[in-house]
Amino acid sequence: MLDISFAKSVLPQSGAVVLLVAEGETATADMVAALDSATGGAIARAFAAAEFTGKAGSTCVILAPGAGLSRVVAVGLGTHDAITHRTAEAAGGTAAAALMRETQATIAAGGLSCEMAAAVAMGACLKAYRFDRYRTTEKAEDKPRLTRLTVLAADIAVAKSAWAPLKATVDGVFLSRDLVSEPPNVLTPAEMADRCKALESLGLKVEVFGPKEMTKLGFGALMGVAAGSACEPRMVVMSWHGASGSTSKGKKSGKTQPIAFVGKGVTFDTGGISIKPAGGMEDMKWDMAGAGTVVGLMAALAGRKAKVDVVGLVGLVENMPSGTAMRPGDVVTSYSGQTIEVLNTDAEGRLVLADVLYYCQQRFDPKFMIDLATLTGAMIVTLGHEYAGYFSNNDALAAQLYAAGDETGEKLWRMPLADVYDKQLKSEIADMKNITGRPGSAITAAQFIQRFVNGKTWAHLDIAGMAWSSKDTATIPKGATAYGVRLLDRLVSAHYES
Ligand code: BES
Ligand code: MN
Ligand code: ZN
Repeated sequence: MLDISFAKSVLPQSGAVVLLVAEGETATADMVAALDSATGGAIARAFAAAEFTGKAGSTCVILAPGAGLSRVVAVGLGTHDAITHRTAEAAGGTAAAALMRETQATIAAGGLSCEMAAAVAMGACLKAYRFDRYRTTEKAEDKPRLTRLTVLAADIAVAKSAWAPLKATVDGVFLSRDLVSEPPNVLTPAEMADRCKALESLGLKVEVFGPKEMTKLGFGALMGVAAGSACEPRMVVMSWHGASGSTSKGKKSGKTQPIAFVGKGVTFDTGGISIKPAGGMEDMKWDMAGAGTVVGLMAALAGRKAKVDVVGLVGLVENMPSGTAMRPGDVVTSYSGQTIEVLNTDAEGRLVLADVLYYCQQRFDPKFMIDLATLTGAMIVTLGHEYAGYFSNNDALAAQLYAAGDETGEKLWRMPLADVYDKQLKSEIADMKNITGRPGSAITAAQFIQRFVNGKTWAHLDIAGMAWSSKDTATIPKGATAYGVRLLDRLVSAHYES
């Protein structure tokens, strides 16, 4: 993570400078005039030559303009009235991308508020992420060099206090991106559970369940998926008690109902006996992204000491073919008691979620449950890589999720639930089967999950198209996106903190 500090608006004497410039304010923005006169007019000449007007997302890079500066990077913010938290983040990300050859830089935030200056810092940090643990031969000069950013702000104390919770959220995003990026031979269910356990240092309570405990509980669906793997499955239950009512005084007045997040954590999905084709199978290392989001979210909430009671549960398994693997045709008994005819072992995520969701409501009686899963290829066919699809049995929760998506840029589009889809799950031999025909199969997968929800307020996010990105965006380098961490962090801060 970049080292972020805030300072009073003074003209830097050396190094790199970023000028954030609103559209049409190329002459008047914070610092522009001062830098321009210090460099003998180099800034204005460059803006004119590059036709830089401050359009959102545009940049103008000026190398060695004089006055001891190595580089000036101007980033357009768009029209002043249209600047949002998102615009500020994107500008920070764009600036960071242009600064990778520098070791440090100063950002003149164009007269933005302290909150917006903190958002700029967040965008820069998010963009500067890189997973390079396994690049052992990369030359030092080829690595990005940027380590420190100083953001100029009108009131240092205000900017710092706006930055503190954002930094915790970035930490959660990075944890999630790390988990999703790790190769599947390293990030086994047991290894991922260990990394969850380490979050106790943030004040989270972390319980880890192994195969013995889950067999005893009767997790026949999750254990069926795990049956083919040499790696033991885990379920991790993370709790954070941050609501003001959950102090010792509040506890006397009775049990508080937490909110709950549940993640699919298939650390590698070969498909099992219903094995997937070889081409692109390596992508299935990120089939634990739902769980990765839940873990990152819990770290973010604990890191910023969110005033909420929340539980995060992840079901961690590897889906492998072997002599001990579940077969197509097997019938498994889920923790809920409902039996499932497994007609395709590649429809495994719903089996994992069935047991963990049912356990979650039995044990915690949460206000609501939200599950996240890279559940279906059909979801990618439906919405591509721009929106995650979501399903909910509650319009109020659905509306809150939609709004949080809009505000964070982690967009959602609601999909239907209906009896006519549920009916397709009918089995000839058990209470239900785990697949339907291809038509509407992201929806029938959601219907399957709903059978383990028992009337609780619930939403299901199918993030199959969003967990991994093959292209860079302003604040997300290609690769693991941590989609959902910021979305759900916003949902919590907007509606569920006391
Ligand atoms: N993990 C996959 C879904 C997936 C596919 C996520 C591609 C991301 C990218 C899931 O377990 C799966 O295999 N789903 C099957 C379901 C089918 C067998 C009913 C699918 O979508 O093809
Ligand atoms: Mn699968
Ligand atoms: Zn899967």
